[in-house]
Amino acid sequence: MTGKVYLIGAGPGDPDLLTMKAHRLLTAADVVLYDRLVGEQIIAMIPATAEKLYVGKAKSLHSLPQEEINALLATKAKEGKVVVRLKGGDPFIFGRGGEELEELVQEGVSFEVVPGVTAAAGCAAYAGIPLTHRDYAQSVRFLTGHLKDGTTELPWNELVHPAQTLVIYMGLTGLESISQSLIRFGMRPSMPVAIVEKGTSKDQRVFTSTIKDIHQIALQNEVKSPALLIIGEVVALQDKLSWFGKSCLIEQKGS
Ligand SMILES: C[S@@+](CC[C@H](N)C(=O)[O-])C[C@H]1O[C@@H](n2cnc3c(N)ncnc32)[C@H](O)[C@@H]1O
Repeated sequence: MTGKVYLIGAGPGDPDLLTMKAHRLLTAADVVLYDRLVGEQIIAMIPATAEKLYVGKAKSLHSLPQEEINALLATKAKEGKVVVRLKGGDPFIFGRGGEELEELVQEGVSFEVVPGVTAAAGCAAYAGIPLTHRDYAQSVRFLTGHLKDGTTELPWNELVHPAQTLVIYMGLTGLESISQSLIRFGMRPSMPVAIVEKGTSKDQRVFTSTIKDIHQIALQNEVKSPALLIIGEVVALQDKLSWFGKSCLIEQKGS
């Protein structure tokens, strides 16, 4: 009997952001393949009886090539196992989820997809930055700052647009060139920008600055991956709306 693969988004870090469906499937898994960005507390939920396979990937330090991950998923499912493929954030947003499923289709293996809270939603919420706001942004755009060929060539013309928030995943390495390109294509140098490092985790750090100075701020503060860039007028609300790390009502009641 062929098993099944569950492609599951683990969210950006805070284990409480795991969906109930993800938790239910994770605790019933025979095999779990997980990525670097899945938080330790979520990995601790994997049953002791399950086979745990760490498959990747720090940038330019792939522990298992993508093709082998794809093949492994199919092999394990064909052994009749309940296979959980656990990814940081949401599997369909810069998560290569589509590539893995294409292989399963080709191999005739059945699957389900469980969405997760993507870094953009999680980091924005925990940083206190609404990605849209009727006064400041009517659209939001998710981009990757790291293309398959290693460059950072983005459609700059389309990105310098009023009332739009940009969220850039994997933008830390190319930050200087991203900022310069946006300014060259007409973004005002004082446009507010935030960098959220390790968003939603207890180690979250948020730095706000301008598109002109954000690279310097990131260097000075030794910002490390995973980090997300949020660019747009909405970032100015962070001052007023930040809440994470301040004591909240539920904690106060419980303590
Ligand atoms: C390969 S992408 C995976 C994105 C993931 N599938 C998602 O939906 O969030 C990895 C990038 O996502 C961003 N990221 C993921 N988790 C993050 C976190 N907790 N804090 C800040 N950025 C995060 C970073 O830009 C990181 O380099």
